[in-house]
Amino acid sequence: LQEQALSALTSHKTLEELEAWRVGYLGKKGELSGILRTMGTLEASERPLVGQIANDVRAALEQAYKERKDALQFAAVQEKEAKETIDITLPGRMPYLGAEHPLHKVVRRIEDIFLGFGFTVAEGPEVELDFYNFEALNLPKDHPARDMQDTFYITEEILMRTHTSPVQARTLAALYPETNVRIIVPGRVYRRDDDDATHSHAFMQVEGLVVGHGVRMSDLKGMLLQFAREMFGEDQEVRLRPSFFPFTEPSAELDIRCIYCGGSGCRTCKDTGWIEILGCGMVHPSVLEMQGYDARELSGFAFGMGVERIAMLAYRVEDIRQFYQNDVRLLEQFAKLV
Ligand code: PHE
Repeated sequence: LQEQALSALTSHKTLEELEAWRVGYLGKKGELSGILRTMGTLEASERPLVGQIANDVRAALEQAYKERKDALQFAAVQEKEAKETIDITLPGRMPYLGAEHPLHKVVRRIEDIFLGFGFTVAEGPEVELDFYNFEALNLPKDHPARDMQDTFYITEEILMRTHTSPVQARTLAALYPETNVRIIVPGRVYRRDDDDATHSHAFMQVEGLVVGHGVRMSDLKGMLLQFAREMFGEDQEVRLRPSFFPFTEPSAELDIRCIYCGGSGCRTCKDTGWIEILGCGMVHPSVLEMQGYDARELSGFAFGMGVERIAMLAYRVEDIRQFYQNDVRLLEQFAKLV
């Protein structure tokens, strides 16, 4: 029996076959057990000897079984490892990395320039009171200049701010009676407008406000010239053109020499050679007085620029909508810029 079992064992190639072998020879109903069950029919004198032989056979078979099982298991692991080999020389796949949005880069650049002039950054709410957005800026309820900015109203008294200028009034109110104010205010603003290549119903502005003793229009002009040179290049030319805003007097708009044609005339500057980038002026005495300041003692200037406008010029983007589409092909081009 031992010889027969051992020779059968070597022919078994899988763990399943091996298990069948174990049940057949060593199991409760296996051949060895069958022999042991016949012990009762033997003479008493023969039993120890037969029992001894049976135990030796069992030990031999169990030992053989164990060795065979280890060998088969080892072979199985090796086969599995051979199949699972990974090619570590294969180049990895790079995940997409996020990057700062070009509009935020421009805001940060503008902030940096004015921080260099001693400004601090202030902010205000996008959902604003009619009072701060218009009335505190010298635009009473029925003032025709309100038509300059079509507005999203939430209630009669609450609206989406149409510009960052309400933060002028808020800051003056908060800082009163401080007599040295220099703030820059980045933020999102809203206007009821049809979106096209140069208009968006939601866009960004950066407001500036300086109030102090003896602040003059020439200070405004000098600061904006320096800003334009740091933003667009040291040879950048600017000009102030008279304009109107109810909260500044006198008011002006700042043009920069067209960065596309250099002044000779092109589509972007509509052949004028100049491009408008911001509105500005001397803070209207009523704006100061509404917040408790004495306009005979203090004066100030303010300006407000469109961030998209500046970004389109600085990065040569032709359609404002490209900033909002989040097309990775566009965004990737700015990822490397500081
Ligand atoms: N708030 C004005 C606008 O949105 C810009 C401006 C700001 C003009 C400050 C003068 C002074 O058009």
